[in-house]
Amino acid sequence: MPVTKKKKTTVKKVSNKEMSVDSLLTIAQLSASDVELILKTAAELKNSAKKNKHDQMLKGKVLAAIFEKSSTRTRVSFEIAMHQLGGTMLYLAGRDLQLGRGETIADTARVLSRYVNGIIIRTDAHKKIVELARDASIPVINALTDYAHPCQVLSDLLTLKERFGKLKRLRVAYVGDGNNVARSLIFGAAKTGIELAIASPLGYEIDKHTIELSENDRRKSGGALYMTMDPNRAVSHADVVYTDVWVSMGQEKEQSQRVRALKKYQVNEKLMSHAAPDAVFMHCLPAHRGQEVTDEVMDGEQSIVFDQAENRLHAQKAILKLLLGR
Ligand code: CP
Ligand code: NVA
Repeated sequence: MPVTKKKKTTVKKVSNKEMSVDSLLTIAQLSASDVELILKTAAELKNSAKKNKHDQMLKGKVLAAIFEKSSTRTRVSFEIAMHQLGGTMLYLAGRDLQLGRGETIADTARVLSRYVNGIIIRTDAHKKIVELARDASIPVINALTDYAHPCQVLSDLLTLKERFGKLKRLRVAYVGDGNNVARSLIFGAAKTGIELAIASPLGYEIDKHTIELSENDRRKSGGALYMTMDPNRAVSHADVVYTDVWVSMGQEKEQSQRVRALKKYQVNEKLMSHAAPDAVFMHCLPAHRGQEVTDEVMDGEQSIVFDQAENRLHAQKAILKLLLGR
């Protein structure tokens, strides 16, 4: 398989059907047209899938999927995505690889590049995926790091576009921990003109660097970002209320202090009553019912959490087609 060629590092001239990047590490690195292209391709693929028509664009291609953390949605949806596109996925548990016994990320990247056509990785430190992408000569896709969860938020943008017909000026409120999902929401909102309000308690806010990094995109798209510690203010008149777990994977030792700090940030019916009457509730899942969200909201009429989960499949098919299919 002739895959040893190094990826281009120069800025590419791209057509409106091609991505400007070789890999997907964060939404911040995509252009606004890349985001638009992913959403358009995802909608087309979803439409064809409904008619039982599956694009065989990745026939014969293999995706290596390295998981150093648990997953239900990401693992299953990527595997089904490869299958529907005509390719296959190799699941590689981090602990079973030589990576878990000290082989370097760089050497792992070089070796896998000789066998497969793309890599997805779910890991802890973001610098690991940066290193992997640098030394691989094939596309690398972020399946979640402590820093970002781009595939989740691209799927969420698809869900919002379907629901509201537009993203520009949509009012989204994120309530809770300033984590990887919140950060990706900031990047995604900045690219698409969403007005995002984030409510987090002291010590759990999103970092300044993320806000600065997304500033230019916000200016270009006409989006907005409002940071507060008051969940009621963030949610006031919002079209969308979004939350995520208080204890992310790898933070289990901080469980009790996090639950204490975040308990006023629960999304319940009272909080939802501050949002627009037709507001929707979103969660990337898995949810910890009774902590960041109540059963009433999760199972209520406003909840679109399972549409989000479904759209992981369609959005990731688009990402795979656009990155591995060229
Ligand atoms: N939302 C999400 O990434 O779910 P999994 O952890 O189950 O993959
Ligand atoms: N913030 C969560 C998202 C899980 C999909 C975590 O990193 O565990």
